Amino acid sequence: MAVGIFDSGLGGLTVLDAVSKRLPEVPFVYYGDNAHAPYGVRTADDIYRLTCGAVTRLWDEGCDLVILACNTASAAALKRMQETWLPKEKRVLGVFVPLIEALTERQWGDNSPPREVEVKHVALFATPATVASRAFQRELAFRAIGVDVEAQPCGGLVDAIEQGDEILAEALVRSHVEALKRRMPHPQAAILGCTHYPLMERVFREALGEGVQVYSQARLVAESLADYLIRRPEFLGPGQVARFLTTGDPASVSVHATQFLRRRIGFEPV
Ligand code: DGL
Repeated sequence: MAVGIFDSGLGGLTVLDAVSKRLPEVPFVYYGDNAHAPYGVRTADDIYRLTCGAVTRLWDEGCDLVILACNTASAAALKRMQETWLPKEKRVLGVFVPLIEALTERQWGDNSPPREVEVKHVALFATPATVASRAFQRELAFRAIGVDVEAQPCGGLVDAIEQGDEILAEALVRSHVEALKRRMPHPQAAILGCTHYPLMERVFREALGEGVQVYSQARLVAESLADYLIRRPEFLGPGQVARFLTTGDPASVSVHATQFLRRRIGFEPV
């Protein structure tokens, strides 16, 4: 009954942590493509190719359902995968839609026409590839009307987080928030649209100031996955074993991952 969790690197561990707490009986197999991170500066074709390779590897682990715990892959590759590549008996889900459903006050999976919603000014912080894809705005337009989105590509931030350079990461968050606020001085909501960014959530909140609702993607993804598995239990795959796989150096990825999650994580080579 295993489920796969994919990210370009360590950021998806924020999602893994939330889904394992919400669904403790499910073995999750995590795949971090650390050797090719960050994805945020790659082309859409490159992201598509790497993501398909990782998902195929997770099928071998008995995961018929894979969560792309990576906004960049969800934005740049998921639609193409679902439309042109994915076999009928497998599912790949992204991390954008649960976030947008929460922002637009919908039930999970509600596909009714777009309508006016409470929130009007939304700040989106994401990688350059996610921002360039405009996938967030596209998915939002299917569900809500009259929402103004200001997107800030947070260049350098994933690298600083992956390298454990907290001082640089904090400085980058502050300067990216400042840059966005020059264009949208009073956002009502902020989306941390990269699974690495919750690790810097405190700094985002401080820099944004009071009165800005910050959406926590990991918890929303966990809730929507739990709901999905109730509706579609047939996509719990045959795998039985939880594992952490990486394309990078397992020893150093394990050290960083252990620092991230503040519990011991042991990665194995892909
Ligand atoms: N953590 C990923 C995301 O949510 C990928 C970041 C990257 O590799 O650039 O976008």
